Amino acid sequence: MEDATKLYDAHLKIFQEIAYIKSYEEYETLYQKSMDDPEAFWAEQAEKYITWGKPWDFVLRADFEEARFEWFGGGVLNASYNCLDRHLPESKDKVAFYWEGDNPDESEQITYQGLYERVNKLAALLQFKGVKKGDRVIVYLPMIIALPVSLLACARIGAIHCAVFDRLGAEALARRIQDCAAKTVITADGGYRAGKWFQLKHNVDKALKRCPGVETVIVYNRSGSKLELNSKNELEWQEAVDDPGLPGYVPPEPMDAEDPLFILHTSGSTGRPKGMVHTHGGYLVYAAMTTKIVFDLKQDEKFWCTASINWITGHTYTVYGPLLNGLTNLLFEGVLFYPDYERYWQIVEKYRVDKLYTTPNVIRVLARETGDIAGKYDVSSIKLIGTVGEPISPETWRWCYHNFGRSWAPIIDTWWQTETGGHMITPLPGITALKPGSCALPFFGVDPVILDLNTGQEVQFPGQEGALFIRKPWPGMARTVYKNHYQFKEAYFSLVPNLFFTGDEAKIDEDGYYWLLGRFDDVITISNHRLGTVEIESVLIQHDRVAEAAVVGVSDPTEEQVIWAFVALNTGTAKSDKLKQELIDLVHEKIGMFATIDVIKWVNSLPKTLSGKILHRLLHKIALGQVDQLGDTSTLADPLAIEEIIRDFS
Ligand code: PRX
Repeated sequence: MEDATKLYDAHLKIFQEIAYIKSYEEYETLYQKSMDDPEAFWAEQAEKYITWGKPWDFVLRADFEEARFEWFGGGVLNASYNCLDRHLPESKDKVAFYWEGDNPDESEQITYQGLYERVNKLAALLQFKGVKKGDRVIVYLPMIIALPVSLLACARIGAIHCAVFDRLGAEALARRIQDCAAKTVITADGGYRAGKWFQLKHNVDKALKRCPGVETVIVYNRSGSKLELNSKNELEWQEAVDDPGLPGYVPPEPMDAEDPLFILHTSGSTGRPKGMVHTHGGYLVYAAMTTKIVFDLKQDEKFWCTASINWITGHTYTVYGPLLNGLTNLLFEGVLFYPDYERYWQIVEKYRVDKLYTTPNVIRVLARETGDIAGKYDVSSIKLIGTVGEPISPETWRWCYHNFGRSWAPIIDTWWQTETGGHMITPLPGITALKPGSCALPFFGVDPVILDLNTGQEVQFPGQEGALFIRKPWPGMARTVYKNHYQFKEAYFSLVPNLFFTGDEAKIDEDGYYWLLGRFDDVITISNHRLGTVEIESVLIQHDRVAEAAVVGVSDPTEEQVIWAFVALNTGTAKSDKLKQELIDLVHEKIGMFATIDVIKWVNSLPKTLSGKILHRLLHKIALGQVDQLGDTSTLADPLAIEEIIRDFS
């Protein structure tokens, strides 16, 4: 067992020779500059990382009260131009993406020139189908090169892309199409996952029954079989872009810095996922800078971010950040465990991946399943491992450090959110001595503050836990919830005036290092996917035998979060394993296969406040076996409910 207070700093000397930022002193000076004069700091970065068609008129306008923020106002740019065109003179033959199929025998690579050509063709097709600046386009694709091509083609013509996770089902898809009133859907017939074919177009067909506004469906033929297209508004991508009438070049649409670039839905504590809106200017500056600095990426390095592009991590750190910097990425269609758990090791060895960005969950599973084969594969190319999505336990951290990291490559535990656009609190290679489990220090321009919500005061350092807020605006921040600015204001800027509420709990230690402790609200992080408990509950109560349901996420420091559901049935309904299975299947069908309820507990009724709110906190404690820590339950609407649940558990 290693000393729990040990600092890991073997990487410092190595990175200090080569890193963009070479010392803690340099970090401090630059950080201070970003605090003292954020506008000057961000203007400098915006100039460095982005090619502008027209410079901005002002750097920042912030109105916390109305939750309105504008960055680089009046500036004109285009994301696709910045990711592609400007690299061509020097790097047209450089590989933009290595693509590794689910099937280990399938792979492909595409250069910057190749990507540029495919993006232009699709952009031309979208324009031909009448898609214009500001229109929303749903992208529902598996992890194939067509996915980044779609995002960039939308960006090129100024359309707003809205990617939908390919494991979400028809209902979730329909809700997102309706939410952003999209008239165009880009999809595929299906995809491959762990050797099995899954359908996407069928889900689109089902969803479109409820979305009459959709005018065009572009279908990428992934299987190679003949596609079943329903009407003349459905096109096979490959066939349609081959039309010689389509131009091979589409001029990039001049976009205002504050024009939306994309919408991504994420779960909050309400039932409906929120469509977070990110804009061209600020988001791109932030994506480009964090990618380069946090991973210290060099031009000849290969970067593998294992997240799906359909989530923010893939948007920022597979597509926009790396391409803005002209880097080479790996895109993996498959999963961690197919054909077996050695797949990630093989991929790192095959491509000689320099820097890997993944989740604590992936590392935990690799440690469990492949702990004894470390050494079998040559992973000596790895110079840094980043993690995101949940706290990483010290045990998992150390395993990763000693195996993938060969006891020197830094583990960069990055804390951020869909709402923040990019990294917010993170160690930096060459600068930060590492503590397993801590995401260390704020990135430039990020001004975190932890408040005790009972008193509204800043917590007393070190160690006191509280709610994490961000004080200063930063360019990568989301600007609104699509067509629901009120919700944006309420969720993020109403709890404490002038502060952005992250929804996370955190503490700072005696060295000023941040430790993220989990969510305040009813959000579960399951295999790096954020799910509101209310979303699952609202599916469970759709079952005609269910009277009420409460869902909690349960984890211990070394295990992945699991989903518990407390379910009360209608009077007279028999409790059975068959019914449990029906409920699990229902959630799979309505939300997606990744949302698996692990434990279902039958109860007679649920503990509620007098105003009728289900007390998830109590159920969470019960699931953890901490029945002695429930506190005073006498003020519940029905104290008997909790007593009954406890009795059943003891
Ligand atoms: O609770 C935090 C957790 O993931 C949430 C954000 O989820 P999402 O918007 O889906 O974005 C995931 C990828 C950026 C946060 O509110 N989280 C993210 N990174 C960390 C983390 N918790 C602890 N440590 C992290 N490094």
